Amino acid sequence: MYSMPGDPCWRARTFPSCLTDYRHRTKVRSAAGQRRRRARVTIKFQFSDMRILFIGDIFGRPGRNIVKDRLPGIVRDHAIDLIIANGENSAAGFGITPALAEELFELNIDVITTGNHVWDKREIIDYFQLVEGNGHGPARRVLRPANYPSDMPGWGLYQGSKGKIPYAVINLQGRVFMASNDDPFRTADQLLKKVEAKVIFVDFHAEATSEKISLGWYLDGRVTAVVGTHTHVPTADERILPNGTAYVTDVGMTGPYDGVIGVKKELVVGKFLNGMPVRFEPATGDVRLCAVVIDCDEKTGKARQIERLMLS
Ligand SMILES: [Fe+2]
Ligand SMILES: [Fe+2]
Repeated sequence: MYSMPGDPCWRARTFPSCLTDYRHRTKVRSAAGQRRRRARVTIKFQFSDMRILFIGDIFGRPGRNIVKDRLPGIVRDHAIDLIIANGENSAAGFGITPALAEELFELNIDVITTGNHVWDKREIIDYFQLVEGNGHGPARRVLRPANYPSDMPGWGLYQGSKGKIPYAVINLQGRVFMASNDDPFRTADQLLKKVEAKVIFVDFHAEATSEKISLGWYLDGRVTAVVGTHTHVPTADERILPNGTAYVTDVGMTGPYDGVIGVKKELVVGKFLNGMPVRFEPATGDVRLCAVVIDCDEKTGKARQIERLMLS
């Protein structure tokens, strides 16, 4: 990074003895952080910018705790406007309860998506039924995949606004190596007819990479982002597709990596060895937060940049 005399970075490079001074190093770091933040604010101002943070499958208490610890710093450093998180594993790895959804909303998460674990905690069904008459309350901002049978409780599309910027979030589930639901491709077509917002975020909760990549191409230019969840393993293929859709096959899990996709490794390895039924328990170690930050033009909904995060 270019710097001038008077700038703390320049001083640090010119007088290496300064580096031994903890207070000075702290100043250097915070000055660099301030410059990055100022640059982001300038970009936002110049280019009608909206920045979306999406947090991958939050797994159990370890996942919830790391979100609590790291979210304020991410929001500050990346100038985040809208926060979306997949919460399908937030209740000890299996489902989400109303209390846990509200705990996540208290952290300023705007919308919670889910997936195949959505019904693991039955209380969520009653929560969805609270929604009548309150179109933007917390219960309405928890989504289940939109391509479930239409008479199931809940919704797979949320339309809201952040400041004056309208946005939509769509939750879909894949059909390859998963339960057979309605076609996610045609469901997306139907939902997009209803959406007026330009900024449209899609969480595609699916197992097969081919199905996820196909939906990315299918929706390229029609939505701001197609982001994959469910496998709990982040992929390194984030990119902006040719017509302006941000894409990544899987964001990865926010939870304990000292296990097998969130579960204690001994239990899962044992099940592979002997095939006996076992009660899965959440792992606890090596907790990481996996997310993506998407920068888009709020006026067109086109994505400009997608950045992958993995924090421990
Ligand atoms: Fe998950
Ligand atoms: Fe899942």
